[in-house]
Amino acid sequence: MQKYEKNGHVIYHGESLEILRNEINDKSIDLVFIDPPYNIGKDFDGRKDRWKKDNDYLNWCYEWLELCISKLKENGSLYVMTSTQFMPYFDIFLRDKIQIISRIVWSYDSSGVQAKNYYGSLYEPILFCVKDKHNYTFNSNDILVEAKTGSKRKLIDYRKNPPQQYNSKKVPGNVWEFPRVRYRMPEYENHPSQKPIALLERIIKASSNKGNVVLDPFSGVFTTSFVAKKLNRKSIGIEISEKYIKIGLRRVGITLNFNGEKLEKEIRTFENGKIERSKIINEIVLQSKLEFNYYEE
Ligand SMILES: C[S@@+](CC[C@H](N)C(=O)[O-])C[C@H]1O[C@@H](n2cnc3c(N)ncnc32)[C@H](O)[C@@H]1O
Repeated sequence: MQKYEKNGHVIYHGESLEILRNEINDKSIDLVFIDPPYNIGKDFDGRKDRWKKDNDYLNWCYEWLELCISKLKENGSLYVMTSTQFMPYFDIFLRDKIQIISRIVWSYDSSGVQAKNYYGSLYEPILFCVKDKHNYTFNSNDILVEAKTGSKRKLIDYRKNPPQQYNSKKVPGNVWEFPRVRYRMPEYENHPSQKPIALLERIIKASSNKGNVVLDPFSGVFTTSFVAKKLNRKSIGIEISEKYIKIGLRRVGITLNFNGEKLEKEIRTFENGKIERSKIINEIVLQSKLEFNYYEE
């Protein structure tokens, strides 16, 4: 295990269960966001996201879910993602351990390989849970979105006394539309399931305050820590792959030097003045792999 730290942001390089058990104090975390391997066969820097039996995967997940709950403060919140087929098990497991407040669908469109013989998977589920449903942070005013229906059509809400126009802003419902991170987007890093900055912004703004500690036990390329820093929260991120740790150290601004290696953002094919044919082909293959992974479900 290796620990890196700067200005309230901690990155652990190592195994999540071990670090949760030994390094993170109980009741010390305000918000935990968990985006684990989904058991759908992705390739995380050579580590296969596939367990021999579904129950092996679930038992592993139950261990870190319990640990994450114990790390939360009494007014803390937990968001957890997984693939559509495993989320029902998470839901049932969590029901008598924590309060499930919202079952969120992160919905997106696909421009790549389209399913032809079934309904393609175009969403990922997220559970929003709190330890105490009478005492938790929810900054609804910080995440308001445009209210499209009544307000746009200038309708009058006659349920109000006196009647008045519909509000132009509202708290988002539980279906969230954010585009997935694509190769050509400025935020793209080299990771097969990087989550969008906009998704983490909504979660961190709503469920934490400035100075709070946000934990992500499967950090990938550290989107959670990056957004936590931007929003003046503190962060703790855990990741097992050195390749992703190096991206995290750069992205979170902890260091640009890793054992003598300069940490720089990878140049993408279209950013090169001279584009080689083989690189264009690699880009197409990479993009369809990103798409295809989602259809493995
Ligand atoms: C779905 S990705 C997280 C992506 C992240 N939310 C982002 O935006 O970049 C899951 C990550 O968990 C890491 N991982 C898998 N098993 C782990 C373990 N036992 N301990 C720590 N990290 C692990 C993988 O390397 C992978 O990067």
